[in-house]
Order: sequence, then C-alpha cells, then structure tokens
Amino acid sequence: MAIDAPAARPANPRFSSGPCTKIPGFSLDMLNDAPLGRSHRAAIGKAKLKEAIETTREILGVPADYRIGIVPASDTGAVEMALWSLLGARKATMCAWESFGSGWVTDVVKQLKIDAEVKTAEYGDIVDFADVDFNTDVVFTWNGTTSGVRVPNGDAIPADREGLTICDATSAAFAMELPWEKLDVTTFSWQKVLGGEGGHGVLILSPRAVERLENYAPAWPLPKIFRMTKGGKLIEGIFKGETINTPSMLCVEDYLVSLNWAKSVGGLNGLVERANANAKAVWDFCDARDWIANLANDPATASTTSVCVKFTDDRIKDGAAFAKAVAKRLEAEGVGLDLGAYRDAPAGLRIWCGSTVEKADVEALLPWIEYAFEAEIAAQA
Ligand SMILES: Cc1ncc(COP(=O)(O)O)c(C=O)c1O
Repeated sequence: MAIDAPAARPANPRFSSGPCTKIPGFSLDMLNDAPLGRSHRAAIGKAKLKEAIETTREILGVPADYRIGIVPASDTGAVEMALWSLLGARKATMCAWESFGSGWVTDVVKQLKIDAEVKTAEYGDIVDFADVDFNTDVVFTWNGTTSGVRVPNGDAIPADREGLTICDATSAAFAMELPWEKLDVTTFSWQKVLGGEGGHGVLILSPRAVERLENYAPAWPLPKIFRMTKGGKLIEGIFKGETINTPSMLCVEDYLVSLNWAKSVGGLNGLVERANANAKAVWDFCDARDWIANLANDPATASTTSVCVKFTDDRIKDGAAFAKAVAKRLEAEGVGLDLGAYRDAPAGLRIWCGSTVEKADVEALLPWIEYAFEAEIAAQA
C-alpha cells in the first residue's frame, strides 16, 4: 500500500560511496590557503605535503617507522604501485569478495602472471582468513565497498608471517581501526571517508615492505610513476612529500582541511563512532522490517561505511529493475543521491555511512526508502 511522503528530508542527500560527501559545513572558501600557482617543490608546497603526511600519521596512528607516501592515480594508483613493485618474490594469495578485489586478482593473475592462489567469497561474505597461508604475499580489501562487508579485525593475520600483507583500505581508513602491525602495505584515496578529492592516493609501507623493495627487483619493467627505489634504495623523498610527479595543491589543501575537521570531531575514535552510528541507524531500520535486509550475511563483517541493503519482499517481480526504480525515485525526490548498488553487485541500495555523513541525514533518508519501496510495490501492480 502506497504511503504518504515523509515530512522531513535529509539536509544533505549525498550518500555516494565515492567521491563521498564533503565534511559538514564545507565551502570552497576553506581552501583559500592553497598555494595555487606555486611549485609543489617550493618550501610552501613541500610544507603542505609534509603536513598532510604527518597529520595522516597522527590521526591514523601509523607507527613512526612506517613510510607514508602521496602517490598518483588515487587508490588504484597506490594499489598498482604495490602489486607491481612487490609481488613475484614469493607465491601470492589473492582474496576477493567484490568487484575491486576481483580487479586486483585480474591484475596479478592475468597481467603479472604471478603464481597465486585465488580465494573468493560471494557478495555478502568474506573469505575465511583462517584458511589463508600468510607465508605467501596476501592481497585483500579491508572493506568491500561494493558488497558492504569488511574484515572484522586483524586477529587471523600472524605477527610472524613470512609473506607481506597488501591491503586496499580505501573505504575503511579513517572510519575503521586498522591493525598496523598486521599490515605491510595499506592504501587509500582522499575521495572516500574524508570526502576529499579524486586523483591522489596514499601508500603506507611497513619496514618489511621497504625491505622487500630494497632487496627484490621484479622481472618486469616499471614505469616511472611506480618506481619507489633507485639503485636498490628506497627513494625516501617520496615519503616526505617529494611526490613522484605533480600533485594538485588545491586537493592537498582540501585534504588538510578534512584532516583538521577529523581532529575536531575527536580524531580516529570520533570518526569511527560517527560511521558506526550511521551504519547502526540503517541496520536497525532493516532489522525492524521484513522487506529489506543487509547484504552482509554476518553482522561481524558488516561494513560501517558502504552499507549495502537488498529488497527481500516476495512481491518483487524483477529485483534489479525494482532496486533501480527505488534509487531513481529517491534521487528524483532529492533525498538520496548516488545510492544505487554498484553495477556488478547484487541489486539493492548502497548507502554510504562514512564519517562525513551526518546521522540526522541517514535518519531522515530511511523513511524515504520505505516510502519509495511502497510506491514501487504499488507501481508494479
Ligand atoms: C575497495 C576499492 N578499491 C579501489 C577503488 C578505486 O579507488 P580510486 O577510484 O580512488 O582509485 C575503490 C573505489 O570505490 C574501492 O572501493
């Protein structure tokens, strides 16, 4: 039965999983301190890049002996740099449970042709880490952005592993605790949890990853954009803000503004709590209804950033068309933008609940989902 449209609307209807909504209260005036038209190699540019690295370390709690670099081509650039530079020294294990992880499998198996065991799980689940051999190099995604499942913690990763762990944490960093001692390579991009801009990636290397870089040269050529060593030594400058090529100082400024906001809400704990509260609002909504459910099968692995939901009502005739119609209606009402499920994922909605999203906006969105659901059920009949 169709129901009346809710009276309240989200003040901010942006629920995209990337680029994600900007920090609350964002305005372009906040970027006035960007050193535009200046060289990124000038003292002022270098200082901004160094500040970005140091503040990232401070907020994320990255150990002092880990390197943090700002690299080209967003999270994809950071992951590719790691795969192409580090893999091949030993067997690899590729873990995938959604579309981006599957992309890394393709790269490693089909492009690099590395001897790899591929472990996959269906959308809604993650692979069993107890079954993974961490004496191989293990590549995985901390939070599956397109499937709404995440690794619950790093407990299954042994401290005394022989292989490296390479973790795509782009939709986890700044919203979830990351166990640095269990991660040798961690990547993310600015456009996700902090609502920054596209184009720039961050690559975090443990001392063991650096040791691999300095003692192993892959058999294939590496383009300049991927090269992190010279003469068998790490190019330390990359990890002090001397970027490989030219970054956007406007994006750097925007990242610094986001980092400052992150500090103002209590740093990592505050950011994690914001995402947790947003996700819980969606989970509770689903639990109280029998026509909608979390795509994540196990609450322990349910994402708190990219919360994916599916429609489970028997009356739905064509699941994909139905979910698309609901998303379209939410968009047309101006209450929920960009929240259709990812193109390769099961039909449903993907509601970004990351730290820049306000809980009041999630709470205001949910009755609209009910409204759009009932409207589409009625429209089918
Ligand atoms: C898990 C994951 N990996 C990689 C990417 C690609 O990120 P980027 O576009 O920043 O390179 C995304 C983007 O959504 C993602 O969710």
